[in-house]
Amino acid sequence: MRSLQLSFLLLSCIIISANTYEGKKKEALRSWSELTRGKKDQQNFETRFRLYTDRAGGNCQIFVNQLETLDKCHFNASLPLVMIVHGWSVDGILESWIWKMAAALKSHPEPMNVIIADWLTLAHQHYPIAVRNTRTTGHEIARFLQWLEESVQFSRSNAHLIGYSLGAHVSGFAGSFINGTKKIGRITGLDPAGPLFEGMSPTDRLSPDDANFVDAIHTFTKQHMGLSVGIKQPVAHFDFYPNGGTFQPGCHILHVYNHIAQLGIAGITQTVKCAHERSVHLFIDSLLHKDKQSTAYWCNDINTFNKGLCLSCKKNRCNTLGYNIREERLPKSRRLFLKTRAHMPFKVYHYQFKIHIINEIQGKPIDPAFTMSLTGTKADAKNLHIPLVESITGNKTYSFLITLDNDIGDIIMIKFKWELPPLWGNIWDTFQTIIPWTKGTRRPGLIVKEIRVKAGETQQKYTFCPQSTDNIHLHPSQEKIFVSCEDLFQTQNRK
Ligand SMILES: *[C@@H]1O[C@H](CO)[C@@H](O)[C@H](O)[C@H]1NC(C)=O
Ligand SMILES: *[C@@H]1O[C@H](CO)[C@@H](O)[C@H](O)[C@H]1NC(C)=O
Ligand SMILES: *[C@@H]1O[C@H](CO)[C@@H](O)[C@H](O)[C@H]1NC(C)=O
Repeated sequence: MRSLQLSFLLLSCIIISANTYEGKKKEALRSWSELTRGKKDQQNFETRFRLYTDRAGGNCQIFVNQLETLDKCHFNASLPLVMIVHGWSVDGILESWIWKMAAALKSHPEPMNVIIADWLTLAHQHYPIAVRNTRTTGHEIARFLQWLEESVQFSRSNAHLIGYSLGAHVSGFAGSFINGTKKIGRITGLDPAGPLFEGMSPTDRLSPDDANFVDAIHTFTKQHMGLSVGIKQPVAHFDFYPNGGTFQPGCHILHVYNHIAQLGIAGITQTVKCAHERSVHLFIDSLLHKDKQSTAYWCNDINTFNKGLCLSCKKNRCNTLGYNIREERLPKSRRLFLKTRAHMPFKVYHYQFKIHIINEIQGKPIDPAFTMSLTGTKADAKNLHIPLVESITGNKTYSFLITLDNDIGDIIMIKFKWELPPLWGNIWDTFQTIIPWTKGTRRPGLIVKEIRVKAGETQQKYTFCPQSTDNIHLHPSQEKIFVSCEDLFQTQNRK
């Protein structure tokens, strides 16, 4: 209940902060008409192109049709260009992530030009006006790229636009407005804005047609009153939905109270930004942690993904999130899913577990209260909760997804434990006396026949069998050890 109320509070906060710009509306409308009037004047650009120069946030402004500014700013036309395009602005200043992103790009081993497209004057407006201004800004970016092509033979195919929120659609418009047959090289949409774009035709939002390659990361598509901050629908060749795309770990509603306690009412904005801006930090992470690239997997929806059913990399079904994505043009958008941690580095290791369980107590479903400990060649993972919700009946294979924060190497042993809730203990004992079983036969219980594991990151498959074949029944509070069936076979042969 509390969280529901809070959701409304969050949305009203967005609306309220939007309304405080109501006063600027007139001014905005004026600047809009001035803009349309000034269209013919090639010098009249609202967007400022700031070439990022150093970590201290230094930048050097490039003016269209002023060639000397390219020299002055040390624009190198033989290097690729990455342009960062910000989104809707509530406070009229460039947000701190922009400088983090620019620094991360600069830290990349391949040198590049990093330009920040500063369209603050058009973005710091009432939301619907800022939305309208995305076209103006897109057009200006297109003109900027055309000018680079004409003046210093910089090919647009070497340009990569990275747009956040409204900036994603700005980038899309830049790609569709640019004249000529060739397209911009790549566009990355970081949680592209949803309101006034969701469900629109591809020409009215970011779409795969806007560049040779388009990728998008969706991180905050949770709906509040039929609206979501980020766009839900696929808009790219590859659309990534970390943790399902609706909301992000570490941004949870409980943290809202912490944020509010720390930052007062500004904490609410921080919370809204948390999941929305996560898309940005996932991308930065991909630049900063070369050895911790996150893999995402093609899947229909998050529920199927949570069953561990989508961890295949066959026929290019998986791809790398962020800067180092495998660029592949597909006829149809592909939705990719992954889990992440709450902090950088965000990477987790995905595993599908398939456990074959026989419940010998006919007609008595059992609550799936199990834990597992894994022994790997590099590390162990202890007391993992098994995320099964359906109760255990007859004779069935259960599939689920487990994620680990660390690389444990090859899995060599699994301990599987039946955790018994205290209350259950009594019932179970009663049960044991009711169920008739003749002397010499075993007490009925669960038989865990086989555990099969598939590791998403390595595509490695394993099969585990009970270590002891003498006593295969699992009883409450008991733990059984499973070893690789191949190893078991070998040791038995040696005996
Ligand atoms: C531009 O980049 C190229 C390739 O890295 C390099 O060889 C060249 O020296 C650079 N030019 C300038 C003026 O820095
Ligand atoms: C493309 O060409 C058309 C027609 O000449 C022009 O109206 C439009 O502004 C041009 N677009 C850009 C981005 O320069
Ligand atoms: C479980 O089901 C499989 C196939 O559905 C069957 O071969 C096997 O005999 C069953 N085992 C038990 C104990 O019922």
